[in-house]
Amino acid sequence: MPSETLTIVDNRIGKTYEVPIENGTVRAMDLRKIRTSSEDFGLMAYDPGFMNTAACKSRITFIDGEKGILRYRGYPIEQLAEKSSFLEVAYLLYFGELPTQSQLDEFNNIVLSHTLIHEQTKKFIDGFRHDAHPMGMFLSTVAALSTFYKEGKNIFDAQNRLVQFERMVAKMPTIAAFCFRHSIGMPFVYPDGDLSYPANFLSMMYKGTQLRYKPHPVLERALDVLFILHVDHEQNCSTTTMRGIGSSHCDPFTALAGAAAALYGPLHGGANEAVLRMLMEIGSKDRIPEFIKRVKAGDGARLMGFGHRVYKNYDPRARIIKQVAAEVLEVTGRSPLLDMALEMERIALEDDYFVSRKLYPNVDFYSGIIYQAMGFPVDMFPVLFAIPRTPGWLSQWEEQILDPEQRIVRPRQVYLGSEVRDYVPMAGRVDPATVDAAAPQAV
Ligand code: SDX
Repeated sequence: MPSETLTIVDNRIGKTYEVPIENGTVRAMDLRKIRTSSEDFGLMAYDPGFMNTAACKSRITFIDGEKGILRYRGYPIEQLAEKSSFLEVAYLLYFGELPTQSQLDEFNNIVLSHTLIHEQTKKFIDGFRHDAHPMGMFLSTVAALSTFYKEGKNIFDAQNRLVQFERMVAKMPTIAAFCFRHSIGMPFVYPDGDLSYPANFLSMMYKGTQLRYKPHPVLERALDVLFILHVDHEQNCSTTTMRGIGSSHCDPFTALAGAAAALYGPLHGGANEAVLRMLMEIGSKDRIPEFIKRVKAGDGARLMGFGHRVYKNYDPRARIIKQVAAEVLEVTGRSPLLDMALEMERIALEDDYFVSRKLYPNVDFYSGIIYQAMGFPVDMFPVLFAIPRTPGWLSQWEEQILDPEQRIVRPRQVYLGSEVRDYVPMAGRVDPATVDAAAPQAV
């Protein structure tokens, strides 16, 4: 009679265990019951990089990596990219349902009226060198907000959490734009509440002496779609960091800064910047085969923007971004980098090294090409990932706080270090290097 259990035989002592299966998982704590004696600690699951570990139950984002499916609260990303807006998707992520028109209008008004940041925050940004990486400035400033909004620590007050959510969705673009303006020595441009969320961000980034900045509608919509595509991605590295820091019950600003720090890495959200630098380093289409050869030779070169821990098929976001890239370049002018990226994709997807490892373009492969075409400097790209990921991080943080099963994150380890040993007085110590050097050389 089939049952939702696993029968485990411990061949060390011939004992059998029945372990329940729930949601396609076994509880790691059930493995601890498998002991060889009463002194035995019991078994653990060993899973570096959490390749096969579910750390939480979630109802926010669903990914099917084999089929290339991504849904936010059940809605396919393709439909949201075509029909929704970033703020509507942010609302959907946090509240779990699409808003009515009045709910959306209220949310838009709240967000677009909270885009200012405390005047003293500017002093943090002004303190950075002109050549400071925007992501370093950005995440430091986000962390500093915890010193302004002290009530953020009231994390068990639902209304307070909502205020911080609205506040951070509103203020991330302002912080990002102020960091950029600082790096180019331009005066800060204050938010314009009469513009849409993406248009206001472009205005704070690029407004010059004109009375009002009006972006090209194609670029305004393209940025909104890119933001939608980046909102959440279940338990990726930075979201896991957000949940991990949040599990200690610190305020959301500190957790957001930590999540942004994790995103900064070139294997994660920093990949969009790394893709552009890779393409610029290659220089031309005819030098792509040489680069691909280096990647396959394993000399340390990676095809940035390719591969994914979950997607073993084409990242559905990359497919949409590729379409958006074509629309943007119609307005901004053809980019040789797009031609290189398309050629690189063509070559890679015909090469067994990539096909056999199921390495396909991911969200970062084409996004940077759009950002560059829109005038964003390459080192702003990770910041452009952090802005739209903010509602995703905060929605996951909210879900964790409300999850009665969640505890402070504290994994175990497999200890392979020294056994107990006594302290050695200085006189008795020798430098292992000198011992090796003095040892008689084998002839
Ligand atoms: C994001 O998790 C998320 O959801 C993240 C994200 C999100 O929205 O939050 O989707 C955003 O971070 C997208 C990924 C951006 N990163 C990159 O584009 C960097 C390049 N890609 C990789 O370094 C890599 O593919 C990862 C980090 C994305 C995934 O790494 P895994 O799952 O640990 O895979 P791996 O490093 O173990 O690689 C498996 C094999 C290895 O070859 P073998 O040792 O088996 O011979 O594939 C090879 C790797 O060498 N490989 C690559 C490669 N990625 C993997 N070889 C060349 N180029 C690559 N890009």
